[in-house]
Amino acid sequence: MSSERASAGVPFCFWSAELDHEGTLRPGFVSLACEHVFGVTADEVRSDFTARLRQVLPEDRPLTHEALERAKRTGEEQIVTYRLRSPAGSLRHVEERVFPVRDPSGRLVGLESTSRELPHWDREQESARRRERLASIGTLATGIAHEINNPLGVILLGANEAQRVARSCGAGDRLDGLLELIKEHARRCGRVVDSVLKISRAERTSRGRTDLRGLVERVRSLSQAAAAEQGCSILHSIPDSAPAIMVNGTEIEQVLMNLINNSMDAGATRVVFSVGEGEGPSLVSLRVEDNGRGMDETELAHAFDPFFTSGPKKGGTGLGLSLCQGIVESHGGRMQMNSVEGIGTVVTIQLPTESTGSER
Ligand SMILES: Nc1ncnc2c1ncn2[C@@H]1O[C@H](COP(=O)(O)OP(=O)(O)OP(=O)(O)O)[C@@H](O)[C@H]1O
Ligand SMILES: [Mg+2]
Repeated sequence: MSSERASAGVPFCFWSAELDHEGTLRPGFVSLACEHVFGVTADEVRSDFTARLRQVLPEDRPLTHEALERAKRTGEEQIVTYRLRSPAGSLRHVEERVFPVRDPSGRLVGLESTSRELPHWDREQESARRRERLASIGTLATGIAHEINNPLGVILLGANEAQRVARSCGAGDRLDGLLELIKEHARRCGRVVDSVLKISRAERTSRGRTDLRGLVERVRSLSQAAAAEQGCSILHSIPDSAPAIMVNGTEIEQVLMNLINNSMDAGATRVVFSVGEGEGPSLVSLRVEDNGRGMDETELAHAFDPFFTSGPKKGGTGLGLSLCQGIVESHGGRMQMNSVEGIGTVVTIQLPTESTGSER
């Protein structure tokens, strides 16, 4: 029995490819399970390597390409997840792992890859786990947030006043600096309490038909000045014909502003908005792509966790993405993140194009 025949029943697609002198990948072995995972036959992939991406959503194709390029450049293992649409219209999520192959001298001579369809429960469990965490934050938050808000206000006022007095008596830089530190941290606590309250409220807000292109342009003009200061361009390719969405415009603007801030924090010089086909009949997919530092697997796995932040020194609360996710899910939508370290991050948001019945 040939190894290809033996691999037909395995739910993993495996391929190996050699790197030629020009750095082009020449596929060698492609398992028969390729058809099961990618919907194209192993023969097709062997004769045209790009054929394996035929069913991958166009907006996710750059991710697969970038993962291979990065594996070639760095010689490190890469993991990427993307979405495929079968001819029958169903949407599937695939996880691909790319491994470098070296010769005995350590030179990179090829790549190998395994891909598997992510089971439905993987995704459902993940989003249930997040919802649970947010719910437990909510219970706690309502109990303590108001108790904390008042003393915080008093601390800020007191520090302000003390700073004014200290300056008027010429108390010097050391005291001024310490009072500034108290104010800065009191403000940070205030931001945490604020975000936690917003997340826990889960208010049912009014929604209406909103022009998606107009909304993105508004966000773009709101953030452009700060972005330009950091050398970052905010761009979009959303056509006039993009479908209207049924959302609370202010909330979705808040989501997009948060995502732009994250991209800028990650050192991106470009943030690009685009639209794609939604994952359901009444959904449209809004994609936000940046060329920032990206995330490794562990960081990506925790990015949505409340209080997870890689920027505590910059005043990050680690609640931005929790807030965004809460807003998107309260609209009946979904938020997904893909990232390749050193290349960039793509956030995909599913937004409703029709009333979900949850609006007032
Ligand atoms: N576009 C991105 N590129 C790289 N890393 C990101 C990106 N978006 C999020 N992250 C990672 O996920 C973490 C959590 O993001 P989140 O928005 O929840 O919190 P934060 O940005 O750290 O804090 P805050 O939103 O309060 O400013 C970030 O600290 C960062 O490590
Ligand atoms: Mg943030």
